[in-house]
Amino acid sequence: MKFITVVGARPNFVKIASFLQELEARSDTQSVLVHTGQHYDPTLSDLFFEQLSIRKPDVNLGVGSGSHAEQTARVMTGFDTVLRQHPADCVVVVGDVNSTMACAITAKKMRMKVAHIESGLRSGDMSMPEEINRLATDVISDYLFTTTAKASENLLREGIAPGRIFLVGNIMIDSLVRNKARAEQLRSFNQYGLKPGKYALVTLHRPSNVDDPVLLKNISRSLEKIHAECPVLFLAHPRTQIQLRQAGLTSSSYQLANPVGYLEMINLQMNAKFVITDSGGVQEETTVLGIPCLTFRDNTERPETTRLGTNILVGTNPARLVEECAKIIAGHIKTGQVPELWDGQTGRRIVQILCEKIKN
Ligand code: UD1
Ligand code: UDP
Repeated sequence: MKFITVVGARPNFVKIASFLQELEARSDTQSVLVHTGQHYDPTLSDLFFEQLSIRKPDVNLGVGSGSHAEQTARVMTGFDTVLRQHPADCVVVVGDVNSTMACAITAKKMRMKVAHIESGLRSGDMSMPEEINRLATDVISDYLFTTTAKASENLLREGIAPGRIFLVGNIMIDSLVRNKARAEQLRSFNQYGLKPGKYALVTLHRPSNVDDPVLLKNISRSLEKIHAECPVLFLAHPRTQIQLRQAGLTSSSYQLANPVGYLEMINLQMNAKFVITDSGGVQEETTVLGIPCLTFRDNTERPETTRLGTNILVGTNPARLVEECAKIIAGHIKTGQVPELWDGQTGRRIVQILCEKIKN
C-alpha cells in the first residue's frame, strides 16, 4: 500500500509526527512524505522536524509565500507532478491550511483516495480562509478522521455518508502526550526573565486580528495594560511581526519575541499563569495541560475546549480581554477536563483504520 502524506505549515508538522511514525513502522506500507514549503523559516519548519523526529521529506515543493491564489496554485502544480511520479493508493492531508486543500483537490481529480485528518471542525465563519479549506477538503475526502463527536455530527449534517467518518481523537495531542516529559525538563521561561506561574503567554496570528492596524494597535495597548499586572510574553508569528512593524508597534512595555520550537512552546504554556491566543492548536494544548486560555476570537471551531476545557472565548474587544485577564489575575481560574480520545493514541487508530480500508 502506497501512501503520500502532505505537510506544509507549522501546525501540520505537530499533527503528522505520530501518524507518520505509526505508518512507517508497518512492513506493508510504502510512504512518501511531501513538504509543500508553505512555511520555510527554520523556526517554523526545520526545528519541528528535528524536535518531533519527523524524517526528512522526500520532496519539498518550495512554494513559499504569496496570495491565497498564488500559493494554492503553486502547491497544486507542484503536487500534480509528484502524483504523476508516485501514483499512490491514498493521499493523506491534515488540518486546514492552504496546502491541505490544494493537495486534496489535486489528488481527488487524479482519482486517488484522499484521507483528511482533523476533519469536521467548523467555525461557521466564512471570512476565515481555514473554514473554506476545511469545507472544500471534507466534501471530497474519502476517509474523514474526526477529533470529537461534534465534528462527526457536523459532517453528517452536511450530508457526508456515515461510512466515510471515523471518530479517532485529536492527533495534535499525540505529540503533546509523547513530548510532555521532554518539554517539562526545559526552563524556557528563564530565557525571558520570567518565573513559572507568573506570566501571560500570547500568540496571535489570525489575519482578522493582526492585519487590521487599528485593531492591532488596540490589542497592543491592552497587552500593555495586562503587562502592568502580570508580565506578558508575546511570541509573534512572522505575519504578526510584519504587521507590528508596519503599524510602528515594535517597542512596547511587554516582551515581544520570535516564535519558538515546539518543546519550548509546550514548556512556556505549561508554566504560564494563563495564555492569550487565536491559535487553534494552542486552544487544544492548554485544555490538555489545564492552563487557563483566553481565545481572542468571536468563534471557535474547537468548542470542546470551551465546553469542557480551560478555554474562554473572549471575542475581539480588547477591553474585554483586559477584564478577563484581571479576573484570572485575581484568582478566578476556569478548570476543565480533557475531551474523550485526546489520549495520544490517535495516530495508531488512524493507521489501523486506513490500512484496513485501503487493503479491502
Ligand atoms: C498559515 C495558515 C493558518 C495557520 C498558520 C500557522 C493558511 C491559509 N493559513 O497562516 O491556517 O494557522 O499558517 O502558523 O494556510 N512567512 C514567513 N516565513 C514563513 C512563512 C510565512 O516569513 O516560513 C510570512 C510571509 O510574509 C507570509 C506570511 O508570513 O506572507 C503569512 O504566511 P502564510 O503561510 O500565507 O499564512 P500564515 O499566516 O502563516
Ligand atoms: N507553536 C510553537 N511555537 C510558537 C507558537 C506555536 O511551537 O512560537 C506551536 C503550538 O504549540 C502548536 C502549534 O504551533 O503546537 C500551533 O500552530 P499555529 O498556532 O501556528 O497554527 P494553528 O493551530 O492556529 O493552525
